[in-house]
Amino acid sequence: MRKILGILFAFALAAQAQPLREAAKERGIRIGAAAASGYLNERDYTDALAGEFNQLQPENDLKWATVHPGRTAYNFKPADALVDFAQAHDMAVRGHTLLWHQSNPSWLEKGSWTSAELSEILSDHIRTVVSHYAGKLYGWDVVNEAFNDDGTLRESIWYNKPGIDLSGTGYIEQAFRWARAADAKALLFYNDYGAEGLNAKSDAVYRMVRDFRARGVPIDGVGLQAHFTKSGVSLSALESNIARLTALGLQVQITELDVRLPVNGAGRASDADLAVQAKLYGDLTRVCLKFALCTAVQTWGLTDKHSWIPGFFPGFGAGLPLDASYNRKPAHAAMRESLLKSPPSTPATVANAASYDTSAVAAGEIVTIFGANYGPATLADAQPDARVYFDGLPGPILYALVNQASVVVPAGVAGRRTTELTYEYRGLRSGPVTLQVAPSAPGIFTLDGSGAGQAAALNPDDSINSPANPAPRGSVVALFATGAGAGIELPVSANLGEILYAGAPPGQVEGLFQVNVRLAPGLSQGPANVILSVGPGRSQAGVTVSVK
Ligand code: G3I
Repeated sequence: MRKILGILFAFALAAQAQPLREAAKERGIRIGAAAASGYLNERDYTDALAGEFNQLQPENDLKWATVHPGRTAYNFKPADALVDFAQAHDMAVRGHTLLWHQSNPSWLEKGSWTSAELSEILSDHIRTVVSHYAGKLYGWDVVNEAFNDDGTLRESIWYNKPGIDLSGTGYIEQAFRWARAADAKALLFYNDYGAEGLNAKSDAVYRMVRDFRARGVPIDGVGLQAHFTKSGVSLSALESNIARLTALGLQVQITELDVRLPVNGAGRASDADLAVQAKLYGDLTRVCLKFALCTAVQTWGLTDKHSWIPGFFPGFGAGLPLDASYNRKPAHAAMRESLLKSPPSTPATVANAASYDTSAVAAGEIVTIFGANYGPATLADAQPDARVYFDGLPGPILYALVNQASVVVPAGVAGRRTTELTYEYRGLRSGPVTLQVAPSAPGIFTLDGSGAGQAAALNPDDSINSPANPAPRGSVVALFATGAGAGIELPVSANLGEILYAGAPPGQVEGLFQVNVRLAPGLSQGPANVILSVGPGRSQAGVTVSVK
């Protein structure tokens, strides 16, 4: 008995001890904290930072005042220390921030610059700082807090005092373009506070980023700061706002979460207030997890010992998930609970597994669903915990991973105009997404899995067709595709020649069909564009078979 109790007790301890980053592992989401290089010599601080979080963002060390102390002087030391720390502890890093109206150095604030000079100063700053961290920071708050609460643009040195001589949001656009030029891979965010729900400011941010997306301005996401009081935010408004932003294909990240509470002389908040705070932390995390494109929840600091709140709001504090002695607060438990118990996200994209076409699905088609919390972090043989439903009909799961799953559209979907897909993992079900249904939706598998270029095809001798190993004209190549429709009953044809066989391949991988085509004798040598027609559907353009 004692032995059993010992084991149970050990389990209870293990569950209690699970850090946030552990709980976030299979969620496809990062859990971050703003951090300061000045505290890296504090053991409790570094233990908690690396123990609980898998992302950090320098709270102040990348602001102009620190990183760019003279017109031609840059100081990367403090931020480098944080980046080194992050790398040593397997943490991702976000940068903050390249353009802001605050924390600018006095050489900049006090100089009397022409717009041309300011433009040169800003482009030099963005180029120098972003390229210093290229490959080390995965994303940047390129522009911070450019809007007033009423949705008008905030006056600032960069916009109109005197500004870099670009009207409206032109200066913001320019900053994003310079950032992309300095690091083609970093994700570029616009970041603001008070724009979490639906209001004049979030409308203005939405209009700007929609315009940026429409015109191809390089922007990847929007940061919602989330500096809250006890009254928090309307969760339905927050959800609607994240929905409209992610519908543009943008990521959303919660970037500066804290919930300030009234505190006594010792810096303590009441238990009742801590419970309200915890609920807000949990709710916010849960709402973010509904969206595959809501990719991080980050708190503005980690411990109430070091927080901007008491200095800026006298009488308030206790805003973070760890108290001043690094004990976990109810907010920590609520976040962890949401990470562990929220359902998979609503599917972000449902695409043909071969072509990545997203226009419609067909019965029997293999589709890849992109989302979050869809499976384990690494590939496993069987997926007993994952299920997919089309109008309630289960479909076979081919594989399931944290951010994507491949499944087969069940035969029962044939003949419908639309179908509603839901995904289930570990007993919790995602929100639905409605898909168009077509009689067929053919896609040809390609050799590199990209959906374009050399087809995954076999030559007559069963060797893999490639530019180095082309098939002779007149010979028969085998192509592999999916999306032929229920039972592969529709007529199949190919532009490259006569079809000798169209049907299930040997081994019967569900959803896969094989087409043997005799390459027409008149084809010219080299890559030949191949198109399969199955009933009314045509396969994707840009796929080739190598011919000699
Ligand atoms: O480090 C100096 C210290 O040497 C000096 O004795 C002391 C005297 O005031 O100042 C210290 O610097 C302060 C710094 O925080 C570090 O504590 C600055 O004065 C102070 O202005 C600075 O405040 C920061 C503020 O941004 C302005 O940059 C806060 O820490 C930081 O939390 C806050 O973060 C902002 C985000 O960047 C944008 N969103 C809102 C958020 C909260 O205001």
